[in-house]
Amino acid sequence: MKAWLLKDFGLHNLVFGEVPTPTPKPGELLIKVGAVSLNFRDKAIVDGIYAPETIPKPVIPVSDAAGVVIAVGDGVTRFKVGDRVNAHFYSRWIDGAPDANESAYSFGAPLPGGLAEYMIIHEESAVRAPGNLSDVEASTLPIAALTAWYSLMDVGHFKAGQTVLVQGTGGVSIFAIQIASAAGARVIVTSSNEKNLAKAKALGASEGINYTTHPQWEKKVLELTGGKGVDILLDVAGGNGLNQSVLATKVGGVIVQIGFLAGQTTALELMPVIFRQTTIRGVAVGHRTSFERMNAFLNEHKIRPVIEHVYGFQEAIQAYEHLARGPFGKVVINVADDASR
Ligand SMILES: NC(=O)c1ccc[n+]([C@@H]2O[C@H](COP(=O)([O-])OP(=O)(O)OC[C@H]3O[C@@H](n4cnc5c(N)ncnc54)[C@H](OP(=O)(O)O)[C@@H]3O)[C@@H](O)[C@H]2O)c1
Repeated sequence: MKAWLLKDFGLHNLVFGEVPTPTPKPGELLIKVGAVSLNFRDKAIVDGIYAPETIPKPVIPVSDAAGVVIAVGDGVTRFKVGDRVNAHFYSRWIDGAPDANESAYSFGAPLPGGLAEYMIIHEESAVRAPGNLSDVEASTLPIAALTAWYSLMDVGHFKAGQTVLVQGTGGVSIFAIQIASAAGARVIVTSSNEKNLAKAKALGASEGINYTTHPQWEKKVLELTGGKGVDILLDVAGGNGLNQSVLATKVGGVIVQIGFLAGQTTALELMPVIFRQTTIRGVAVGHRTSFERMNAFLNEHKIRPVIEHVYGFQEAIQAYEHLARGPFGKVVINVADDASR
């Protein structure tokens, strides 16, 4: 089969070639990949800054894929030939609390990813793709959408009428705006620029704060919430801004620590955390059961992923370069000719 292989770190080491088409073993599905979407993680892997010691070389990259089952191994019962599925990123995390080693079984390294004509997914690691979405659209769900959904619903225990703060307008945050507003939230979004704030409002955000012109954005959040702060804050920025997130979240509220765009370490002021009794909870994407609940919600609310650009299978390098420029919406690679069916 045709596949992209990351032979070493650096985008110049991502090369197009041929590898043997895999055969499904007992319990496995052979997927004809329709499309894949890129996440910050995929770029970080290529750049050699994402747990580099865990990345096999060569590896077929990209974790997020959608496609159709074309063959099944012995004993498969959850899916049949013709079903449309998503790869579930933490392939062995089905429900409940995560095991210590979930990341050893994630697609797009260490497990082979979806940037190839075909992909093996164990039937337990596949999720039925939403029926109302094309493969191009469904390919955007496994990391960005599930992280937003799991953070809001499974960690934040969101209830309709609550106020949610979403930082920036990246892949996770756009899904968070769409999901939270469809679920009945008042969504406050921060962004570096007015153009993105306007787009975020068109997707359902109630209010926007420009963190470039208002570096002390937490004060604006308090103004907008009668001095209380938000119920749930999805922190994708990390760094020392976590102190601002604590002040922008209500007493007894929840900060879901998702990202580290502004830094992987923080000098956290402990007294506000203690007096405000803030819960700060890290998340790593989510489990399969949450993914299944999310897909039902997306279908019910007719939520369509925001896609900035779809590249062809031969244009993977351009797709990675596009991701690095900071798109509004997902960057997708259409692996199969018929992926937009
Ligand atoms: N824990 C997990 O399971 C998980 C899952 C997915 C992603 N992540 C992490 O979450 C972060 C976001 O991922 P993503 O895929 O959504 O990234 P992305 O699509 O690359 O998002 C980048 C956007 O974030 C905004 N941003 C950048 N720096 C910011 C800052 N200091 N404060 C507020 N917003 C800022 C910018 O939007 P504006 O220009 O509009 O401000 C930028 O366009 C990354 O660190 C990623 O590694 C974690």
